[in-house]
Amino acid sequence: MKDFSIYKNKKVIVTGNTGFKGSWLTLWLQELGATVYGISKDVPTTPSLFEDAKLDKKITHHQLDIRNYEAMKKLFAEVKPDFVFHLAAQAIVSTSYQDPLDTFSSNVMGTANILEAVRHLTNPCVVVCVTSDKCYDNVEWEWGYRETDALGGKDIYSGSKGAAELVAKSYYHSFMKKTPHRICTVRAGNVLGGGDWAKDRIVPDCIRAWLKNEKVSIRNPKSTRPWQHVMEPLSGYLLIGSMLHQDIKLNGEAFNFGPNNDTNYSVEKLISDLAQEWKRQDAFEVIPSEKFQESNLLRLNCDKALLKLQWKPTLSYAETIKMISDWYQLYQGSKNNLAETLVEKTLSQIRHFQEKMKYE
Ligand SMILES: NC(=O)c1ccc[n+]([C@@H]2O[C@H](COP(=O)([O-])OP(=O)(O)OC[C@H]3O[C@@H](n4cnc5c(N)ncnc54)[C@H](O)[C@@H]3O)[C@@H](O)[C@H]2O)c1
Repeated sequence: MKDFSIYKNKKVIVTGNTGFKGSWLTLWLQELGATVYGISKDVPTTPSLFEDAKLDKKITHHQLDIRNYEAMKKLFAEVKPDFVFHLAAQAIVSTSYQDPLDTFSSNVMGTANILEAVRHLTNPCVVVCVTSDKCYDNVEWEWGYRETDALGGKDIYSGSKGAAELVAKSYYHSFMKKTPHRICTVRAGNVLGGGDWAKDRIVPDCIRAWLKNEKVSIRNPKSTRPWQHVMEPLSGYLLIGSMLHQDIKLNGEAFNFGPNNDTNYSVEKLISDLAQEWKRQDAFEVIPSEKFQESNLLRLNCDKALLKLQWKPTLSYAETIKMISDWYQLYQGSKNNLAETLVEKTLSQIRHFQEKMKYE
């Protein structure tokens, strides 16, 4: 059985707390009784779960740029966190082509700044450093990537995540083997869930279009992605954080968190299944593909997470689609008490997931 009780009354810094994953993680940690401190430079989307759910009122939120090392060092020294979940990043592939330096400085030097701030802590601290499945050198083979496979990244975002992995690895080998600090990196793929409003992501693009009663425009209907609900990798992050706290043997390790192989469906299928839940005909149109490089096939091998953490996906593909639909349909229908409604819906999905996860 997975036990997250370690987080009760612990001080937890979440970087990127205003983002999609960060908002879900904040609510989950609060549900577990943690005291959450958020660090983000901005709110990346309008609307956002962070603002709609008024999460700034529930935690100590710091609007700061992780590229500002002095600010990170000062804040970490003040908070003395027990855990750090480092999620802050420029997380959009298309944006990385428009602003490569911003992507590299946030994703690579930002990660170094966070780890350097941790290095100066005198208290024990566990760091879960979130990179991506895109950190691997994607050779477009049909097998799942394992944690020992080569890092790489042909596009700027992927390269920045591969580089963040190297930063974490060298901090582990240079310092964290000997200091009271522990670190793991975690690699997950495309996540889905209520409250994602990022641009150029398939579910938010669908919801935005359908809310206006329009078709969604898509470029690569045949592309397959390892779709998973946002709670799947977050459960992995919480699990590794809790296990790393107890077991030093996990220090310095990397873990993949992906769906079962049978959930590698095409974009077309995902949209059609969502559209069916929304009772929507004519859900999408295909437009010409843009010139930038984005890999077609990427699958993770998650045997290590199963073997060492007893982690495996909790929700079926059908449950994932249903949960996402329910969330956005509630959003669409909620005019009054939006914050309470969204917090309650998100927490009810987290509770359902946790309950199910216990018996997986
Ligand atoms: N969403 C996905 O499908 C997915 C897939 C794989 C990996 N990831 C990774 O998970 C993490 C979270 O993703 P997300 O989808 O929630 O991202 P998001 O775009 O929704 O949020 C990004 C967050 O990072 C913060 N941020 C960005 N640059 C910053 C900086 N320089 N200083 C301080 N804060 C900064 C933003 O303010 C925001 O809070 C990222 O590291 C991302 O690369 C996401």
